[in-house]
Amino acid sequence: MKIAKGIILAGGTGSRLYPLTIASNKQLLPIYDKPAVYYPLTTLMLAGIKEVLIISTPKDITALESLFGDGTAFGMTFSYKVQAEPRGLPEAFILGEEFIEQKPVAMILGDNFFHGHGLAQVIGEASDNLNGAHIFAYPVDDPSRYGVVTFDKNQKVASLEEKPAKPRSNYAVTGLYFFDGHVSEYAKQLKFSQRGETEITDLLKYYLSLKKLDVSVLGRGYVWFDVGTSKSLLDASNYVEVIQSRQGTIIASPEEVAWRMGFIEKEDFLSHVYSLPKSQYQQYLLRIDSL
Ligand code: TTP
Repeated sequence: MKIAKGIILAGGTGSRLYPLTIASNKQLLPIYDKPAVYYPLTTLMLAGIKEVLIISTPKDITALESLFGDGTAFGMTFSYKVQAEPRGLPEAFILGEEFIEQKPVAMILGDNFFHGHGLAQVIGEASDNLNGAHIFAYPVDDPSRYGVVTFDKNQKVASLEEKPAKPRSNYAVTGLYFFDGHVSEYAKQLKFSQRGETEITDLLKYYLSLKKLDVSVLGRGYVWFDVGTSKSLLDASNYVEVIQSRQGTIIASPEEVAWRMGFIEKEDFLSHVYSLPKSQYQQYLLRIDSL
């Protein structure tokens, strides 16, 4: 059964992006021509998810609500919840307990960007075959900044470590996670780490101890960024600009994905697009109608 619900965790302090984040939320900063949060939203949509809970800070939740509204334009439903303090990623499953209703759920970090041919298929298969928890690993040059996963000879998860000084592999755990309906219950049992947060790695380790943690590797054909630093924000922007201007396509348009995924009918897509301000974005969306 496909996962129907998804959470976008779009709070945090964004301290590494200071002073960009004094008055703005990180996920509202531009990746080239769109708010950063469009990219994780469309990743969830490509997994077939229509019901989304957006979690952010008391200061930023209103801006996200005015960006997305109730989701009708995309044939989706959006709801919103405040995280009072950045107390760690697993808190999403406690704040989201009523939303989750003990059903399978995806969670994506609002500053994560995924792109690559066949991504929808990889995440769609993981969603279909969920048995506990599922993570997506990506090879990086600097694994000690991330949760790091190692594999056994059958390509199953052997170990997980949070920001290890001496990483045992170069595979980072990316910010897209699938969990079964027990996740809120398990999240409540986590202890706070030395940095005063609960850790997603501890939650994943619990699923690993139950032998219910699967992993898909996103190899060379994919791009993954977390736009937590000025350089990664610029790198992601440059990547989007290069692909879009070379191909004449747009990466991460929720309007386009909603239409292609069949969330909205063509007439609704067109009337929404006609209502948008005259812009390059609108021109592109009008053009894809004839593609
Ligand atoms: P981080 O990059 O770990 O933290 P941050 O966004 O606060 O940035 P910095 O380290 O520069 O201070 O967070 C990853 C993502 O998760 C990001 O999209 C923000 C979000 N987040 C929350 O919404 N709530 C939280 O409690 C935490 C820890 C992160």
